[in-house]
Amino acid sequence: MRRLVRETYLEPGGLILPLFVCPGEGVKKEISAMPGNFQMSVDEVVRECEVVRSLGLGGVILFGIPASKDEEATDAYDPDGIVQRAVRAIKRATPDLLVVTDVCNCEYTSHGHCGKVVQDDVENDETLQWLAAAALSHALAGADVVAPSDMMDGRVAAIRKRLDENGFIKIPILSYAAKFASAFYGPFREAAESTPQFGDRRSYQMDPANRREAMREIALDIEEGADMVMVKPAMPYLDIIREARDRFDVPLAAYQVSGEFSMIMAAARNGWIDQERAMVESLTSIRRAGASIILTYFAKDMARLIG
Ligand code: PBG
Repeated sequence: MRRLVRETYLEPGGLILPLFVCPGEGVKKEISAMPGNFQMSVDEVVRECEVVRSLGLGGVILFGIPASKDEEATDAYDPDGIVQRAVRAIKRATPDLLVVTDVCNCEYTSHGHCGKVVQDDVENDETLQWLAAAALSHALAGADVVAPSDMMDGRVAAIRKRLDENGFIKIPILSYAAKFASAFYGPFREAAESTPQFGDRRSYQMDPANRREAMREIALDIEEGADMVMVKPAMPYLDIIREARDRFDVPLAAYQVSGEFSMIMAAARNGWIDQERAMVESLTSIRRAGASIILTYFAKDMARLIG
């Protein structure tokens, strides 16, 4: 009877697993705050993607940890950068697995900010050139979807233009449209080694207090050509997800971020909550709020449970 009257379903095809690619071979290093998640070299990521594919997940999203970082985020748009190499290898091994790439500079800059820094401030417009170049290099490597997460103004239009000029008219943009300056990114910054070396990201990420501004950001990104939009983090922002679902017709994604995952894992490991139930309930709430695509570190566990 419960099943008959249930309103919300989760399915593996709606889940995307984030993966962290690092240099080397045979490297699989667990991220301490995110049990079951690893920094993996390209060969290991390829193996992981075979598992992801067999579980029927919607896809993976790749984050890169380059061998070296510099002021210009060179590895972010290098045709032989870490993510570009990973995409090529994955597409060779599992061509029908959807590969999304995170387009951002923070993992590639020595200062850890998402763009070009001039006098302690991120230079919006010059950063757009890096982002467009990175997105194009991902598309050339074989990425199916590019996902800009930097929150610079005008990035969706800049990326769309560069992709179109180079013949990638069919590569969709999944924009991190409403990305809040959140404490819940903590474990990710350890995982991606991208903690800002000075200041914080509040000048370009959104104030958690602002709902109307989030709607404006989403509307702007859709106008600029975003094919899908994302709200991030997820659980503390279910109202934003719901309002975005009601207002906009494009596919809506939500990112259950590292801190959301780590909190559940930590509490479960202390015996304070039931891990499986907390996983299912949190993902159900995000789906119920209106996200059809969920990026989550639980993707494999959830798929195994419902598979
Ligand atoms: C930026 C980026 C971040 C996350 C995804 N893309 C970190 C940040 O903005 O500081 C966070 C994801 C997570 O916490 O799981 N490239």
